[in-house]
Amino acid sequence: MRAVDFIQHKRDGKEHSAQEIGEWIEQYCKGEIPDYQMSAWTMAVYFNGMTAKEVAALTLAMARSGDQVDLSAIQGIKVDKHSTGGVGDKTSLIIAPIVAAVGVPVAKMSGRGLGHTGGTIDKLESIQGFHTELSQKQFVEQVNSIGVSLIGQSGDLAPADKQLYALRDVTATVESIPLISSSIMSKKIAAGADAIVLDVKTGNGAFMKTLDDSIKLAQAMVTIGSETGRETAAIISDMDQPLGYAIGNALEVAEVIDTLKGNGPADLTELCLSLAAQLVLLGKKATDASNARQLVEEALQNGAALNKLRQLIEAQGGDGSVIEDPKRLPQALYTYEITSTEHGYVSAIGAEKLGLAAMKLGAGRQTKDEKIDHAVGIVLRKKVGDQVSKGEVLATLYVNTKVTDEHETVKMVNDAYTISEVQPHQRPLLQAI
Ligand code: URA
Repeated sequence: MRAVDFIQHKRDGKEHSAQEIGEWIEQYCKGEIPDYQMSAWTMAVYFNGMTAKEVAALTLAMARSGDQVDLSAIQGIKVDKHSTGGVGDKTSLIIAPIVAAVGVPVAKMSGRGLGHTGGTIDKLESIQGFHTELSQKQFVEQVNSIGVSLIGQSGDLAPADKQLYALRDVTATVESIPLISSSIMSKKIAAGADAIVLDVKTGNGAFMKTLDDSIKLAQAMVTIGSETGRETAAIISDMDQPLGYAIGNALEVAEVIDTLKGNGPADLTELCLSLAAQLVLLGKKATDASNARQLVEEALQNGAALNKLRQLIEAQGGDGSVIEDPKRLPQALYTYEITSTEHGYVSAIGAEKLGLAAMKLGAGRQTKDEKIDHAVGIVLRKKVGDQVSKGEVLATLYVNTKVTDEHETVKMVNDAYTISEVQPHQRPLLQAI
């Protein structure tokens, strides 16, 4: 089909065949479809949508466009988890050891942070000696021997998505459920997972701000899973405030260790147990949902998951003694306390604002190649619903250069907190399963 006919077809609300979509993506990757024609087509998709079959074909075409990780040498059902991104989201570091401790292999590739959200790989690299670059052979061998490995994304996964996403970003076509869902799932499928659990965030710190949109995105991705033969489940969780208390790499690893010792924040612990139970269920290690929940709770309570984290750290060259002594993680030189200027209740915390403040302190990067400071970040002392008195600490900044009252991050953190006279209604952490 000529490019112009292909675009016209979608403009007129008609359905493409899987073969046409496959050819369209292949030609785009070869440079045979110019960006102006691809953007006309994405705009047609934006307005007219795609059928489930079209979305599955687009996902597979993008997954096929680059390297495809072969995990077939790993025994068992390989499960993967994906979060649509949030602030203070350190769930992968907690879930991977829990799930591995229950006997489901976790061979996970993760990314670095960009903008206001952090990345699992940056967090792991705050542990001295931890290698996030392993060969494919080492990766597979480690999962077969200890059941878990977490590495950085290597190779060229779904390059068609990379190219398309950059184009959507500048042509106002990011906010399209078929395009977002195929983008996310193409990378998961290329990474070799047999089964996928999605943590779709909703709220002011999330990509999807409303529950309605988050449900639509989750449903679209679960449908792609069933159309492409990857069992997929989704949880919709709140990102109207950061998850847990810590934001920043080493600070988050310390919170991960606390959580695996059973002393973690309630919201973080609950979300991790819920996601881990879904993974154990899809990994076919549990008879039903309540058995899965029981197995993951046991792995947390009996120390098996904490032990698995130590094995993971040591297998990848890291200093396992951080488990007993989290002070061995990079420590910031100074702290600065942000205090409340009024009495009342914390009624909202702008997650995105706090993520940006942590980035400005050096915990995250604005551009892909920027260096980060693993020690710095923010620890919240008050969360939504907490009572606060004038002068009480809302949050602590951990910094390596002294900050003054005028520092822009002080203002950002202050602005992120809303204090009201009445106790606010608490949003549930798990909004839908
Ligand atoms: N994240 C992705 O990976 N793709 C999108 O299209 C949007 C968010």
